[in-house]
Amino acid sequence: MSALPEVGATAETRSRFVHAGFVASARWYDRLTHAFSFGLDGRWREACLRACDLRPGQTLLDVATGTGELVIPARRALGPRGIAVGFDFCAEMLSEGQRKLSREPGSAVAWVQGRAEALPFQSETFDRVTLGFALRHVDVGVALREIARVLKPGGQFVVVEWTRPECTLARLLSLGYMRHAVPPLVRLINRDRRVAELARYLPRSIEHFMSGEALGRRLEASGLAPVGRREYMLGLVSICVGVNGAVGVKGHSGGRVYGEVGARVSRYARTSWEESRRKRWVILASGVVLGIVAFQMIFELVELLSR
Ligand SMILES: C[S@@+](CC[C@H](N)C(=O)[O-])C[C@H]1O[C@@H](n2cnc3c(N)ncnc32)[C@H](O)[C@@H]1O
Repeated sequence: MSALPEVGATAETRSRFVHAGFVASARWYDRLTHAFSFGLDGRWREACLRACDLRPGQTLLDVATGTGELVIPARRALGPRGIAVGFDFCAEMLSEGQRKLSREPGSAVAWVQGRAEALPFQSETFDRVTLGFALRHVDVGVALREIARVLKPGGQFVVVEWTRPECTLARLLSLGYMRHAVPPLVRLINRDRRVAELARYLPRSIEHFMSGEALGRRLEASGLAPVGRREYMLGLVSICVGVNGAVGVKGHSGGRVYGEVGARVSRYARTSWEESRRKRWVILASGVVLGIVAFQMIFELVELLSR
């Protein structure tokens, strides 16, 4: 695989790099993301699903599904008549999802391989489309247009994504953590060079991505009227909800949470926290990571003062 893509690299170059990284990290992906997010990733995904407000019998497409961390729990809400599709361009990630699902009873997920920029589904097929932590990796404009196309009129798109904090201090702290603590932590778990490079790419991809508020505007520009937004970790993670074809929805560029959908997101985030707390090993990993961050910060401060 090529080295880290430069800032301004084409979507195709970034895509090849990201694909190789996920091929290499598929077996480790869940552990890696739980560890470096202190287990909070599960909480954010649950908030995302809550915002979806899934009903029995609905059709759901999870774009860039990875190992199925969103679509596997989502399918329970769809019941036996519902349809859940997990879609991704990386066969290794999909196989991991399939393997996890085979251990769980209940309804199936259809696993489909392909690119988010060319969804192989007929127009107006799905009631809901979700996308978790992958919009930074795709051609945003093309993928959002495709998502709007396959959603039924009035259908909802819910995205949970790493976004660029607007506040400078929050940006320095969060991206400093991503830059200095995540790569060593990832190396502790997996020593593959491609996985290490993907971990180094993570902060860069967030730094050059958009804020949660800008994400709302991008949804709107693609015909997905933003009706709810919620930020976590000072804007490092955002959940945005867009309704296909809806126009004139009030208050999209305003506060952090708005409308009924926003309230649904935050309610769910609170109730699901208990579950994340049970993952004790995450707490252990958090201690290690905090130690590394503190060490890095002191190191950088000393370096700054000694200039
Ligand atoms: C960070 S993982 C997120 C997986 C999952 N959504 C989750 O929440 O855990 C990003 C996923 O996006 C997929 N991906 C990246 N670019 C893609 C593209 N252009 N088309 C389809 N999938 C893509 C990768 O293969 C990977 O599985």
